[in-house]
Amino acid sequence: MNDKNIDFYKKINLDKFKEFARLMGLDTKIDIDFIYPYIQSAKILVELGAGYGRVIEALLEKGFQGQIVAFERVSELMNHLRSQFDNEKFNRKITLIEADFKYYPFPEKVDVVLWLWSGFLEYSKIEQIQNVKRIYANLTDKGVLVIEIPIEVKHLGKHEDHQIIKVETEWGTIEAYMPRYEELLDYAAQAGFAGVERLDYATTTNLKRAIYIFRK
Ligand SMILES: C[S@@+](CC[C@H](N)C(=O)[O-])C[C@H]1O[C@@H](n2cnc3c(N)ncnc32)[C@H](O)[C@@H]1O
Repeated sequence: MNDKNIDFYKKINLDKFKEFARLMGLDTKIDIDFIYPYIQSAKILVELGAGYGRVIEALLEKGFQGQIVAFERVSELMNHLRSQFDNEKFNRKITLIEADFKYYPFPEKVDVVLWLWSGFLEYSKIEQIQNVKRIYANLTDKGVLVIEIPIEVKHLGKHEDHQIIKVETEWGTIEAYMPRYEELLDYAAQAGFAGVERLDYATTTNLKRAIYIFRK
């Protein structure tokens, strides 16, 4: 499913991407404010699909001390990330990997995997389960996976049935599968996670969203 979405991110320009974040109320990085207590002591953190760098920026603003490894497969976005997060400038190590994270081995076991702003939804149900299992295998003993997705889809999204979402914009269409809470719990159990904590919140534009902390 998600390979069809590559074009959406290839064609979105940076201004549109940032405008999209503003519409969602995520430009303020409010999601990272909620997540930060759970991730701040990580020695190594992976972000899946870094986009224009919103999350890396938030981590740096918060003074995150761990190593950051960020995957992004769209070269236009990766070039932007490279220009923004030059290691010399920050005097610390940020590893940017231009690759499809589905096929790229993690460099080592990691303490935190962040999969924010609905990225998880861009996969079919089967792929979602496979991804959760693969992430579990790549986490350290006390590792956490953080998934952030909407509770209800109001903006730009249209429910084709209850769970298949299509977002149509002038630069492309994105398809997504919205798992129910029980399905997420089932994915976690299948992978071997000990539990899932759910934090409901509202973005700065008042969209209702949820953060799921999967604990090993
Ligand atoms: C909705 S954006 C989220 C960006 C960022 N995580 C944030 O919260 O601001 C999803 C990003 O993930 C990237 N992406 C999606 N699937 C990917 C994959 N399999 N490998 C690498 N990057 C991927 C997309 O190109 C896009 O930039």
